[in-house]
Amino acid sequence: MALQESTGLDVYQTYFEPTTYLGYYKMGQNPVGDDVLQFSLKHYNATFKPAGGLRGKLLIDIGSGPTIYQLLSACESFEEIIATDYTDKNRLELEKWLKKMPGAFDWSPVVKYVCELEGDRDKWAEKEERLRRTVRRVLKCDVGKERPLEPAVLPLADCLLSSLCLESACGTLEAFRDALRHLRPLLRPRGHLVLTGSFDCTFYMVGDSRFTVLPLKEKVLREVLQESGFTIERLEKAQRGPETVLEKCSDYTGLFFLVAQKND
Ligand SMILES: C[S@@+](CC[C@H](N)C(=O)[O-])C[C@H]1O[C@@H](n2cnc3c(N)ncnc32)[C@H](O)[C@@H]1O
Repeated sequence: MALQESTGLDVYQTYFEPTTYLGYYKMGQNPVGDDVLQFSLKHYNATFKPAGGLRGKLLIDIGSGPTIYQLLSACESFEEIIATDYTDKNRLELEKWLKKMPGAFDWSPVVKYVCELEGDRDKWAEKEERLRRTVRRVLKCDVGKERPLEPAVLPLADCLLSSLCLESACGTLEAFRDALRHLRPLLRPRGHLVLTGSFDCTFYMVGDSRFTVLPLKEKVLREVLQESGFTIERLEKAQRGPETVLEKCSDYTGLFFLVAQKND
C-alpha cells in the first residue's frame, strides 16, 4: 500500500483527494464521519440558533475543505459566508456543489439531519438554496501566511469558523499559535471564533494517503487560545464514539467544539 506521509503544505495540494475525503461524510456509512457530524452539527445548531445565538453580517470559514456541513446552521444567521481552502481541488469541489454541477457530492442526508435538529426536516431543499445564496466567495487560504487570505481584501468578519483544519495544517504548537495570530486580524473586536477539532490525534487517512495531525490536549488548547487574545465562552467535548473503535483511519480520542470571543 502506498502510504504517503504528510508533513508539509504541498502534501495537501498533491495528495488530498476531495472526493475520497467526502466518503467520511456519507451519513450512516462511515462511523468516524458520523461521530464528527453528530457531535458538531448538534453544537453548530445550538451556537447559531435564531434566539440568542451568534449572528451578524460576515462569517469566514477557514479551511473549508470540500465540505459544507459546518455552514448549515450558520447560513440562517449570517448574511454572507466566505468559504476558503488551501487546495485548488477542494475549492473546485465546493464550487461544484454551490453551482449544482454534475458529480457534486450529495449533502442532502446531512442537510435533512440539520433541518430535523432545527425542527422541520421538510425544509432541506430551501436550506440548500439558502446556503448556496449565502456563500458569496470561495477563496484561497493559507493559515501559515501572515495574511492568510491575501490578495483578497475583506471587511472584518463577525465570526470566524474553522473545523478540523488548524491541527491538520499546523505541524507544531508554534505553528498553531502563529495560525491563530494570522487569523485574528480578520475578525472584528469582540467577534467570535467557532473552532472544532480533535484531541490527541496524530493522523488521519484519506484513501491510502496519511495526513499528520498536531495532537492537542484541552489544557494546551485553552492556553493557546488565551495567549492569542481570545476568551473561551464555551468548550464542549465528547469522547470518541464506541462505534468507531475498530476504525483505523484516525487515532483521535475525542472531539471539541469551542466558541471564543476576541478580546478587543
Ligand atoms: C481535515 S480537513 C478539514 C476539512 C473540513 N473543514 C471538514 O470539517 O471536514 C483539513 C483541511 O485543512 C486544509 N489545509 C491544509 N493546510 C492548510 C493551510 N495552510 N491553510 C488553510 N487550510 C489548510 C486542507 O486543504 C483541508 O481541507
